[in-house]
Amino acid sequence: MGRLDGKVTLVTGAARGTGAVIARLFVEEGAERVIVADVRDDLGEAHAEALGPTARYLHLDVTSEADWERVVDDITADEGRLDVLVNNAAVLLLATIDRTEAAEFERIMRVNAFGAFLGIRTCLPLLRANGNGSIVNLGSIDSVYGTALTAAYTASKFAMRGLTKVTAIENGKFGVRCNIVCPEAGNPEMHTPIVGAEDWPPLPPDPSRGPDTVAPAAVFFASDESRLCNGTELVMDRGHYAGEAIDLPDFLYERP
Ligand SMILES: NC(=O)c1ccc[n+]([C@@H]2O[C@H](COP(=O)([O-])OP(=O)(O)OC[C@H]3O[C@@H](n4cnc5c(N)ncnc54)[C@H](O)[C@@H]3O)[C@@H](O)[C@H]2O)c1
Repeated sequence: MGRLDGKVTLVTGAARGTGAVIARLFVEEGAERVIVADVRDDLGEAHAEALGPTARYLHLDVTSEADWERVVDDITADEGRLDVLVNNAAVLLLATIDRTEAAEFERIMRVNAFGAFLGIRTCLPLLRANGNGSIVNLGSIDSVYGTALTAAYTASKFAMRGLTKVTAIENGKFGVRCNIVCPEAGNPEMHTPIVGAEDWPPLPPDPSRGPDTVAPAAVFFASDESRLCNGTELVMDRGHYAGEAIDLPDFLYERP
C-alpha cells in the first residue's frame, strides 16, 4: 500500500529539481495521477513520460491566471477531482538590495508569491469538493529568516508563509489543509550569478543538500499521515533556526 494511494496530485515547477523528485515520489507512493506542470515543456514532458502512465504533463506558467484556469478545467474534465496541490515553482535572484532592480523584485514576487496565491485560489473549489485536500507550499529557510543577497526571494518566501497560515485557517473547516516546507536545500542549478559579482565562482553543488533531502517532506504533507497538521511550517535547516550554535569543548559533553 502506498502513502498516497488514489490521490490526484498537481506539482508546479516539476520539470526538474525538487518538484521533479516530488512527482517521482508521488508516483512511487501510489498516487492515482501526478500532473507535472512547468513552463519548461520539453523537460516536463520528458519527465512525465519517464514516470509512466500515472503522470502527465501540462504547461502552466504559475503567474498566468488563464493558465491556472485552463489547468483546473483540464483536471476537472480528465480526473474529475484534485486531492493535492504542491506550489513548488519558484525563481531566485541573488543581489544586495542596492542592486535589486524594481522590475526584478516584481518578477520574483510574481512567480513565488503571486503564483502560489493564484494556484491556491484557483484550485480551492476542487480541493474542497471531496472534503480532504492538502496544499503543500515549498518555502525556504528564507521563509523564516533572512539571508544576505536574497531581498526579493526572502520577501516572496515570507509572503508564501503568510499565505499558508491564512489558507489554513480559512479552509480547515472544509477539510483542506495547507502547510509549508522550509528547506535550506534544493537544486543547485537554481542558484544564479550574484548581480554585480558575476565572475564569483558559484557554490559547489553539495549532494547531501539536494532535492532528495526535501521531497519526502512533501509526501508527508500530501498524505493523510499529516491530517492533524494545518498551517504548520517544517523547517529543514539542520538546526540553524533553533538558535545560535556555540562550538563547545568536548569535555563539557562528558557527564561528571
Ligand atoms: N535550490 C535551493 O537551494 C532551494 C533551497 C530552499 C528552497 N528551495 C525551493 O524549492 C523549490 C524548488 O526549487 P528547486 O531547488 O527545485 O529549483 P529549480 O530551479 O530546479 O526548480 C524550479 C522549477 O520551477 C519552474 N518555474 C520557474 N518559473 C515558473 C513559472 N512561472 N511557472 C511554472 N514553473 C516555473 C522551473 O522551470 C523549474 O522547473 C522552490 O520553491 C525553491 O524556492 C530551493
